[in-house]
Amino acid sequence: MNKVVAVIGAGPAGIFAAQALAEAGVHVALFNRDIKPGGLAEYGIFFDKYKMKNGLRKQFQRVLAHPNITYFGNVTVGEEGELTLADLQELGFHALLVTVGAQGTKWLGTTGENLQGVYHAKDLVYHYNKLPPFAEQVFGIGRKVAIIGAGNVMIDIANWLIRYLHVDEVIAIVRRDPSAVKFDPTPTFPQNGISYEAYNLPIEEPIEGVFLAGWAREASTGLVGAARKDGMQGAQAVLSYLDSAELPSADPEQLFAILKESCPNHVCKDGWQRLVEIETARAAADALPEFKFPSNDAMLLELQ
Ligand SMILES: Cc1cc2nc3c(=O)[nH]c(=O)nc-3n(C[C@H](O)[C@H](O)[C@H](O)COP(=O)(O)OP(=O)(O)OC[C@H]3O[C@@H](n4cnc5c(N)ncnc54)[C@H](O)[C@@H]3O)c2cc1C
Ligand SMILES: NC(=O)c1ccc[n+]([C@@H]2O[C@H](COP(=O)([O-])OP(=O)(O)OC[C@H]3O[C@@H](n4cnc5c(N)ncnc54)[C@H](OP(=O)(O)O)[C@@H]3O)[C@@H](O)[C@H]2O)c1
Repeated sequence: MNKVVAVIGAGPAGIFAAQALAEAGVHVALFNRDIKPGGLAEYGIFFDKYKMKNGLRKQFQRVLAHPNITYFGNVTVGEEGELTLADLQELGFHALLVTVGAQGTKWLGTTGENLQGVYHAKDLVYHYNKLPPFAEQVFGIGRKVAIIGAGNVMIDIANWLIRYLHVDEVIAIVRRDPSAVKFDPTPTFPQNGISYEAYNLPIEEPIEGVFLAGWAREASTGLVGAARKDGMQGAQAVLSYLDSAELPSADPEQLFAILKESCPNHVCKDGWQRLVEIETARAAADALPEFKFPSNDAMLLELQ
């Protein structure tokens, strides 16, 4: 049976959802309020991240070329749109997937928000990323700008104000202490946009030569495959650092000799291998699926 699904919203979530459905043999109608697909990947991500944005556009193009996906750009779905969800159901779609992003404008609800020169970040982001009609809207901005909040959007807007509008001063206002900023530290050795550097949060500075990967970097996220990938990316960040830094020479032999002396109870690779053999033999002798010494002392005793 032919299955038909309407996906509403062609941002990254909708586009990749459409791909998964199409590859499973489903016929997809992909509706998008904006003419161009991409959502915030097109109109949110800072405009000078050309490489990233072009890479995403290419991926989106490839996905939308799938014969099972029909794209309906410039069609808003909703009570005020060309079609409602009920219309789509009545038309016979088997399922609807809503991926319209986080819409709406969240104001602070404080006095003065409607004064001249007070803007919402979303409108400015749309303006500099050239989303009609915001692209043509005029935003009067002076020489000194205050931004309320300190997330990644604040960084994007501060970047635009300083590097493109050349304002004199930008002040970010946080309601808690400075360590509570929400923005991601800018990585010096990014791997796929991720920072692997250890940070001294109160002063927002990387700790030189110290990196984190896996669950140490992002607690309790993903399975072994994710940890493997993260570990490999962390290693790439370390390699980039090693390439970039002027490092003093080191003598590995001397270094490891000192370590062996200062850790007299360390177990080397041979010792570990011997333990595995002993435990395997004990398991076989006792007809057990596995045998493990219950304490460090017991293991160290075996290795003496
Ligand atoms: C300013 C800003 C900068 C960002 N920068 C980065 C970055 O550098 N790197 C990064 O990885 N992430 C970044 N992000 C986050 C990233 O953009 C989002 O994680 C991602 O775009 C969310 O995807 P989405 O598909 O859920 O929603 P969206 O991208 O918001 O897509 C929603 C889509 O739904 C459509 N739509 C909305 N309403 C309707 C409707 N009623 N009918 C039909 N269509 C509708 C919209 O036109 C849009 O195309 C940034 C976000 C912001 C706000
Ligand atoms: N380069 C990138 O990858 C990039 C760029 C832009 C956006 N994004 C993503 O897009 C998402 C949205 O980013 P965002 O910066 O808008 O949100 P955010 O990360 O949640 O930051 C919002 C900031 O506003 C403050 N705030 C919220 N309500 C406030 C109020 N009533 N009064 C005073 N301060 C208030 C918050 O303070 P509190 O901490 O006190 O709540 C916080 O500092 C995030 O996931 C972000 O990572 C990513």
